[in-house]
Amino acid sequence: METTEAFEGLRCFDCGERVDAMATGRCPDCGGILDPTYDYEAVSLSTGGPVASMWDYEAVLPFPAASANRMGAGGTPLVACPELADRMGVDRVFLKDEGQNPTGTFKDRGAAVSVAAAAAAGADDVALSSAGNAGHAAAAYADAAGLDAHVFLPERAGFTQKAMVEVHGGDLHVAGGEEAQIGDAGRAYERAMADNEAWQSVKTFVTPYRHDGKKTMAYEVIDQLGGEVPDGIVYPTGGGVGLVGMHKAARELRTMGHIDELPGMYVAQSSGCAPIVDAYEAGDDRHEPWADVETVCGGIAIPDPGASDLVLEAVRESDGGAVATDDEAILDAAVEVARHTGLEMAPACAAAASGASELADRGEFGPDDTVVLLNTGAGSKDADALRAHVGERNAG
Ligand SMILES: Cc1ncc(COP(=O)(O)O)c(C=O)c1O
Ligand SMILES: [Zn+2]
Repeated sequence: METTEAFEGLRCFDCGERVDAMATGRCPDCGGILDPTYDYEAVSLSTGGPVASMWDYEAVLPFPAASANRMGAGGTPLVACPELADRMGVDRVFLKDEGQNPTGTFKDRGAAVSVAAAAAAGADDVALSSAGNAGHAAAAYADAAGLDAHVFLPERAGFTQKAMVEVHGGDLHVAGGEEAQIGDAGRAYERAMADNEAWQSVKTFVTPYRHDGKKTMAYEVIDQLGGEVPDGIVYPTGGGVGLVGMHKAARELRTMGHIDELPGMYVAQSSGCAPIVDAYEAGDDRHEPWADVETVCGGIAIPDPGASDLVLEAVRESDGGAVATDDEAILDAAVEVARHTGLEMAPACAAAASGASELADRGEFGPDDTVVLLNTGAGSKDADALRAHVGERNAG
């Protein structure tokens, strides 16, 4: 597959080593995470217009839309939420509704680019472990590209996510037991990868391409605001891939002279699994793995996020922050947003809504501020947890 004009290859975040473009993997020298790089002087990007899909930004993606765009991911609406703005005491709140992607979450953006990279490298098979949504997205994009997907999910992943992997013809492996967490799925994936050398990984921060695909969320937000940089972007954070990607996008836009300021990047987690918030509050550069995960927020229940150093760096460089709220507040926020705006947030995503309120209560935002909440996925993908909460509220 051809690459785009400005795409230069990959560079290691840790040691700076340059690596020729390849489908997958970490730095051959130090094992660090690899990052696609571009010759920004060769990029021609028209900004400020309406957004049709993430492929409007192909000039800052590795592969051209003509070969890599299969389902038109991205181009999701940025919806004004004046009721939330009133309650938070800020000028404007917008919700970026990633639930409107083909498989119902922002994971489509990372899957589109990482599966394209695997296809470009001539792979027949891709594999990953995931909390659920990334597995669903990878199965769909692999299906569209004619590749086989091997998807390792923990038992606690949602019914919809497991079901749709199989609908796409994916090879679904469920790491057993109700107590199983994402780490158990990860170990099953590692064993299978060791036995199948030809499989290409599309796992978080093993492939260098998922954060690059997800960076298009920030390109879209800034274009949809007519070129304005929001004061804060509140992101429901698990591994932090999307946050690292959006911060990269903001830096790229600054390098290319389109913006002057970076948007403040805010981590929102559940207090039932908040390793990055803990590290932020302690002033540490990396997280300590979290032992007991206790949250219904499946997508962000990542007890050992491997790129926490990149996330924390992005938060600090952009003068953002980090906040954890409890599951009750998160589920309440999902219901309140649904009832005031009609928009459906999954529990993991509603951590951004309740986290933003908490940040506002702490005085983090000013009355002239514009705050964007990332609704990373559709509420209907995790309807059970939302409905159970409504049932409990009605009973109580
Ligand atoms: C709906 C949803 N939101 C957020 C996340 C967290 O993504 P990231 O790894 O970018 O922090 C996930 C990941 O599984 C998810 O499914
Ligand atoms: Zn390296």
